[in-house]
Amino acid sequence: MENNKLIELLNEMTVEEKIGQLSQISGEPYASENFEITGPLAEMGIPKKLVPIAGSILGASGAAATKKIQERYLKESRLNIPLLFMADVVHGYKTIFPIPLGIGATWNTDLAKESARVSAIEAAVSGLHVTFSPMVDLVRDPRWGRVMETTGEDKHLNERFAEAFVHGYQGENYSDPYAIASCVKHFAAYGAPEGGRDYNTVNMSERQLREDYLSAYQAAIDAGTELVMTSFNTVDGIPSSGNKWLLNDVLRKEWGFDGVIISDWGAVKELIPHGVAADEKEVALKAMTATLDIEMMTFTYIRHLEELINEGKVSAKSLDEAVLRILRLKNKLGLFENPYRAADAEKEKQLIFSDDHREKANRVAEESMVLLKNNSVLPLDAQKQKIALIGPFSKGENMLGEWSWKGEPDSASQIFDIMKERLAPDQLLYAKGSEIKETTEELLKAAEETASGADIIVLALGESADMSGEAASLTDIKLPPAQIDLLKRLSKLDKPIVTVLFNGRPLDLNDVEKYSDAILEAWFPGTEGGQAVTNILLGKTNPSGKLPMSFPENVGQIPVYYNHFSTGRPVETTTNRKYASKYLDCSNYPKYAFGYGLSYTTFLYSELTLSKEHMTKDETLEVTITVTNSGTVKGKEVVQFYVRDLVGEVVRPKRELKGFEKITLEPGESKKVTFKVSTDMLRYVHSDLSVSADTGEFEVFAGGSSLVTESKKFLLKEQ
Ligand code: BGC
Ligand code: BGC
Repeated sequence: MENNKLIELLNEMTVEEKIGQLSQISGEPYASENFEITGPLAEMGIPKKLVPIAGSILGASGAAATKKIQERYLKESRLNIPLLFMADVVHGYKTIFPIPLGIGATWNTDLAKESARVSAIEAAVSGLHVTFSPMVDLVRDPRWGRVMETTGEDKHLNERFAEAFVHGYQGENYSDPYAIASCVKHFAAYGAPEGGRDYNTVNMSERQLREDYLSAYQAAIDAGTELVMTSFNTVDGIPSSGNKWLLNDVLRKEWGFDGVIISDWGAVKELIPHGVAADEKEVALKAMTATLDIEMMTFTYIRHLEELINEGKVSAKSLDEAVLRILRLKNKLGLFENPYRAADAEKEKQLIFSDDHREKANRVAEESMVLLKNNSVLPLDAQKQKIALIGPFSKGENMLGEWSWKGEPDSASQIFDIMKERLAPDQLLYAKGSEIKETTEELLKAAEETASGADIIVLALGESADMSGEAASLTDIKLPPAQIDLLKRLSKLDKPIVTVLFNGRPLDLNDVEKYSDAILEAWFPGTEGGQAVTNILLGKTNPSGKLPMSFPENVGQIPVYYNHFSTGRPVETTTNRKYASKYLDCSNYPKYAFGYGLSYTTFLYSELTLSKEHMTKDETLEVTITVTNSGTVKGKEVVQFYVRDLVGEVVRPKRELKGFEKITLEPGESKKVTFKVSTDMLRYVHSDLSVSADTGEFEVFAGGSSLVTESKKFLLKEQ
């Protein structure tokens, strides 16, 4: 439809119909012909008058189901305005990819884009138009269960992944029927709740917010994301969903975002328990004033907006603008021409779980896994070794992780089944050893007996899926004691132990490290999890993941992240160590650092060179490093590039990731990798909130992790 027709349509709408567009409800009320609201739906308080005029629904899917809903709805719709179908397709629809933290560990944005593409195809044929993804909240606290939904602790990495996901979902344009609209979330700073407790207060200076926390949302917007979802938390004392400064002043006016802002589930009405609105009417006023367009699953707009307009507290113009943003999105997706868009039951059968999608899920899973330790016990020798596979994640456990809404845990490949296919019958032994949270003497004994007949033990341990994700914060991030007991018991057999970990957050791995000869971090790897793990264990695939988030020594260190400041008394250089910034009982450094990860081969870095030793603000310079595969097998390496601003107007991080490239090297092969430094890269937020680069000295580092020490310096001059 022509955009000016949208204005005509808007002009035909009643105020109530307009407000309907601003409300999102779940699909259940459309299950019956006459839109009955009974039972639990009635308890949710969905107003009956809203159902025939709601603008969008969440959580319905399947070509047949969505078509039926759309058909029924349009039959009732006076002006034939189609519904938008939205849902959480976060790391796959049915073919599930690793959790986003695992995707972050690939350091491969092409793979991230491909994963989003597959998600979009499967979601589109099931009748979905919008996914509530990507989630790009910057995180530094592994107690928070939702770290599993992010790509980690670094803004540069998050920005690159944010763009990749948006491009993957949205494709080139919406003439592609399999393109779906993306919604970046949760705006803003949801990943920094105090104490890592979900939904808790977020408190930081505006300077820090702008410096570290906002950039990944902005990257998603620059990549063209259609929607932004607000967060549950407060930002400087004001909940995001009623935060005019955040939504209107920053997001819309400063960044020029003219797409749809949607609240998180129920977040609008939560202004009341937050204590910034006395009642629903005040809530509606605050959310509307903040330019929040769609209220998800609370009903303050439909109940109070008309009254607020009549009282002159909300302008009719702001309502029109919000409605128009929603109509424009519907129009972009071509819903006025074809309200069913790509929903197609035949295509669902063909495309969902297709070989191509599974193959891609396997590839992403393999690249997501991080080899944390290897005392030369991996890869396993499939010809010679007798392997005891033990632990609750060997078979039957959920490999998919949280936010795999439509995922089918039973469809995921399991290590036991794949190993059985690959190994001779007498080579594979199995015992469960423990459940996730408990074990018995019987299970432990059986595991010991099984393991004593093997050459090597593969122990598949982890957190259950529901130990991370939303509302799953923990104060203790060790593996459950039952699994540590199992590990300790088996360690007494004096056989090499390879521990494979399934989990949604960085863990305290001190015990695991002590008793394991090798550790493979597999995250929740998705539909092809068992296959990907086996390929790595047997050496068919060389691991190449690197940590996107630091693994702390223990909870007491949190937050511990690589790009921290120096302090005035750095422990490394303060001469009177007693008075240095440190702990008495623990180092300042994480157990496994950001950017860290081993391979079955080794990489040598040499010849770090700068194209020149100084540059002016309108010039660039090049940093080149040579990487050599010094081992005996082919491998992939993530070459990382960090910069330190030695003297700033405000304190600057000890180093910041500014670039990375994943390369493949044959044994003995060398490659030169070049990173370009521009003034843009050196800019940061100053004390007056202006953004610029200071002249002076900078140090650059290039290597295989955030711990790289090889560096060179250059000078930035005015001219
Ligand atoms: C989550 C969002 C999600 C929404 C809709 C909320 O509880 O915080 O991430 O998109 O539910 O399912
Ligand atoms: C302490 C101060 C103290 C000063 C003089 C510093 O190390 O931080 O609290 O007043 O020494 O003794």
